[in-house]
Amino acid sequence: MPGRRKFVRTISRGIASALLLPAFDYTDSNAHPVMPRFDSNNEENYWREIRSQFPLKKELVFLNCATLGPSPQVVVAAEAATNLELNTNAALPANADALLADIARLVKATKQNIALTHNVTEGINIGVWSLDLHKGDEVIISTHEHVGNAVPWLNRARIDGIILKPLKLRNTAEEMFEAVKKSITPKTKVIALPHIPCTNGQVLPIAAICNYARQKGIFTIVDGAHGPGLLQLDLPALGCDIYASCCHKWMLGPKGTGFLYVHTDSIEKLSPQFAGAYSDSGWDLLSSPPRLNGFVPTAHRFFYGTQSPTQYAGVIAAIKFIEAIGQEKIETRARDLATYLQDQLLDMGKEKIEMLSPTEAISRGASNGYNVHKLGYKEVANACRKEKVIIRAVPENGVDCVRVSTHIYNNKEEIDQLINIIKTLA
Ligand SMILES: Cc1ncc(COP(=O)(O)O)c(C=O)c1O
Repeated sequence: MPGRRKFVRTISRGIASALLLPAFDYTDSNAHPVMPRFDSNNEENYWREIRSQFPLKKELVFLNCATLGPSPQVVVAAEAATNLELNTNAALPANADALLADIARLVKATKQNIALTHNVTEGINIGVWSLDLHKGDEVIISTHEHVGNAVPWLNRARIDGIILKPLKLRNTAEEMFEAVKKSITPKTKVIALPHIPCTNGQVLPIAAICNYARQKGIFTIVDGAHGPGLLQLDLPALGCDIYASCCHKWMLGPKGTGFLYVHTDSIEKLSPQFAGAYSDSGWDLLSSPPRLNGFVPTAHRFFYGTQSPTQYAGVIAAIKFIEAIGQEKIETRARDLATYLQDQLLDMGKEKIEMLSPTEAISRGASNGYNVHKLGYKEVANACRKEKVIIRAVPENGVDCVRVSTHIYNNKEEIDQLINIIKTLA
């Protein structure tokens, strides 16, 4: 549809120039935004240029993308252009297919494995309610769950009498894997752990756990809120049955967007509880009795109805932005900055700082959870906010700490700024 393309591209250019960024045609599946050239001799300069592609206010030190990630200008522009097109030309073909293909590429799956959702919690609820579970069946979760992976399971327990078995986090990947294995009983039907908990940012050994569970015939549902956009993911290799995630944290996409990955072998094991346009394989109200043939053999059985073309465009642009930089480079940078922060916090000494995140390299992600002994966690977060340094207070499950998340728009000076504040409080 060249006419429409040209219009969208033109609008993109208009908005792009208003925002001082290079235009990029997000409707072209092969196009990517133009990025500064990476120079390993001057990395800090490269990341400063990346930072300049975010409309995030310059004076803000934003260290909380584990709640919501700020979008780069290309995402804001793609959303704005699509919204304008939608409301001026009155019709826009939904680019769900292009989006499914882009998400699939990011997580090394196929688009048949991907369903579009609005957030992580929606994906978890789809998993929780599509499974055939009965009274007394056991589900292993952790004691560090976000409400999004706690309440859906608690609700299923309330209605169907399944039993939740919360497991404490361990310090290393090996200890964690052993603890999961030990907590399995003949009644264990599901392991529903986070890839990275919202509290201390620990990267759990999800591949080992899921592949072990698969051998034992135990279903796995991973809360993947913090995976995509941060980690280089290969979801089929991870071995999970379901991975519920979002595009509004580390992926830096529009807020209120998410996706659900379902392993090819698992699709037929799941019975959709909500269904509609495109999730079915045929229906007839005129037959007697009225008939639903069944569901499509793809993850499309889990989503239906109208979603937002504006947000689709934004997620496509976010994925193109990630790809233009490179997921490997992004993961390395985000984790390096987190290590830089953790080292300085550890240097302050145990008598001042309680570090709740693992120090083992494979288990350490890009978020640090810690406490300042002298002050309550909420006071620490508030004191930082007063200095325009945004971190998150974590009240979940009595963990009561602060969490600092580092991403590609951050730099070492910002971490130093945070450390200087913490030193005045500790
Ligand atoms: C680990 C974890 N799981 C689930 C969620 C819920 O995400 P959403 O609000 O997209 O449903 C969050 C949100 O912060 C989270 O950190």
